[in-house]
Amino acid sequence: MARRKKLYEGKAKILYEGPEPGTLVQYFKDDATAFNAQKKDVIEGKGVLNNRLSEFFMTGLSRIGVPNHFIKRLNMREQLIRQVEIIPLEVIVRNFAAGSMAKRLGLEEGATLPRPIVEFSYKDDALGDPLVPEEYIIAFGWASQQDLDDIVALALRVNDFMSGVMHGVGIKLVDFKIEIGRVWEGDYMRLIVADEISPDSCRLWDIETGQKLDKDVFRQDLGSLNDAYTEVAKRLGVLPSNVTHATKPTLIN
Ligand SMILES: Nc1ncnc2c1ncn2[C@@H]1O[C@H](COP(=O)(O)OP(=O)(O)O)[C@@H](O)[C@H]1O
Ligand SMILES: [Mg+2]
Repeated sequence: MARRKKLYEGKAKILYEGPEPGTLVQYFKDDATAFNAQKKDVIEGKGVLNNRLSEFFMTGLSRIGVPNHFIKRLNMREQLIRQVEIIPLEVIVRNFAAGSMAKRLGLEEGATLPRPIVEFSYKDDALGDPLVPEEYIIAFGWASQQDLDDIVALALRVNDFMSGVMHGVGIKLVDFKIEIGRVWEGDYMRLIVADEISPDSCRLWDIETGQKLDKDVFRQDLGSLNDAYTEVAKRLGVLPSNVTHATKPTLIN
């Protein structure tokens, strides 16, 4: 096969031209970055786990009618996705205080929030993805009020789905980030979930022990990131539960 055209290389993934117009191939790298890429490492096998976990969550969302970019998994590290026009926002949903919110408001990590809170950061590494109010988003034309209403509704559906799935395997969904993109069908525009949903983009705590099973393991040097992600994958039935090693996950089906 001829080498595909690389369209974009980011911190965690590479996008290649897809086989059909309107499709892309999303390749999951092993690179881990945190604190706006000031902390970096290569975690062998992370890309394989995230490819499989993002597939698992996106197909689950499709099953309950939440539109998203996933088409099919191609191999251990790649999936075929629908090309979208990414809205330059990180859409964050929080159920419990953690990370930047806990810091900003002086809340204890893990404090229960009165209700799920949706917030937006402007996706710009050079600026450190600053939190932006809806007023900015509308004024700068990144999204309309109608788009924002739709995005909040989508984000809350993803939150209900992810919280339920995680609760079923003894994991608390503290918060997560998604990206939303536009797809066009003639003159008609729809908003769909894009990018990835994985332990890189969620905070996941074991309900019993509070053990962190997400990228904070890397951010805070809490142990093996692969062990944490493998634990999530095993509980969800994405990996067979008798896998003992961490660096080279075995995929089922
Ligand atoms: N379906 C899609 N169509 C077009 N772009 C996408 C799609 N899904 C994700 N992206 C973009 O692809 C890139 C994924 O690579 P990533 O390593 O996460 O990049 P970054 O370092 O910019 O976060 C992101 O910029 C993301 O916005
Ligand atoms: Mg990214």
